[in-house]
Amino acid sequence: MSELSWWPAPAKVNLFLQITGRRQDGYHELQTIFQLIDRCDRIGLTVRADGRVTRSAGPAEIEPDKDLAVRAARTLQRHSGTGLGADVQVIKHIPAGGGLGGGSSDAASVLLALNALWGCGLSVAQLAQLGLTLGADVPVFVHGSSAWGEGRGEQLSALQLPPRWFLVIHPGGGVSTAEAFQAPELTRNSVVLTIRAFSESRAVNAFEPVVCARHPQVAEALEWLRAQIDAHGVPLRAHLTGTGACIFSSFERAEDAERIAARVPDRWSSFVARGLDRSPMHAMLRVQDGQG
Ligand code: C5P
Repeated sequence: MSELSWWPAPAKVNLFLQITGRRQDGYHELQTIFQLIDRCDRIGLTVRADGRVTRSAGPAEIEPDKDLAVRAARTLQRHSGTGLGADVQVIKHIPAGGGLGGGSSDAASVLLALNALWGCGLSVAQLAQLGLTLGADVPVFVHGSSAWGEGRGEQLSALQLPPRWFLVIHPGGGVSTAEAFQAPELTRNSVVLTIRAFSESRAVNAFEPVVCARHPQVAEALEWLRAQIDAHGVPLRAHLTGTGACIFSSFERAEDAERIAARVPDRWSSFVARGLDRSPMHAMLRVQDGQG
């Protein structure tokens, strides 16, 4: 076994999310802005010489064989034909089922890190393609930039977003992504936007009415956050991320986010995170390559 190394897996929020069509394969065409944030899961990796892929630590509620981090390691192993294996440890800080992309980001960090540790030599584009077979949100984390996303969420254009701080509230409960996409009343025919035409006033999430109707605690948390007043005396804008259940508001200054965070009712969990243009995973890989 090689030495244990630790890797970050950042979360994302969707600054907006709309559905522009339904595809033959059951997936939906969407448009979104993925904003990476510095709330991270931690992935521990040890290369195994015996070719086995194991998980020695991880969330109790997800069986190792179903864990996207483990599945990512096995997918890369099969694709690359390496004889090496790995032990994976997953330390969760990103709420699961929250629309923050935690599982997808864990998978992306495993792909990027094992590609380096196993010496597979795949490009980022090849890893993103492999990642797409694991989930629609994996490619953005493999590419490691905040981005405008289209298609299933895999057609990405990197974006430099204004520096922001995010207050994220998890009102409890998990939302099934597949169920949210199947809701009969989901608006699936939004007009296709260009990046240029996008403005913050169009920052809607098509899943908000769907999720609020089925998960009253999400509706309640949104109402609470929208009743808070920002530093300019204006009520906050608040949004669902992904298909929920987490909601968020953005702030220019950390202290303004912290001020509202201090008031979040005890029955909900919350955290403040900084927006990132680049994933910390990529900074680590550059250091490994001697480019850092
Ligand atoms: O790709 P992922 O496993 O995250 O997607 C979960 C489910 O969400 C899919 O099985 C599909 O039903 C739905 N989905 C969709 N269109 C997308 C992304 C996900 O219909 N662009």
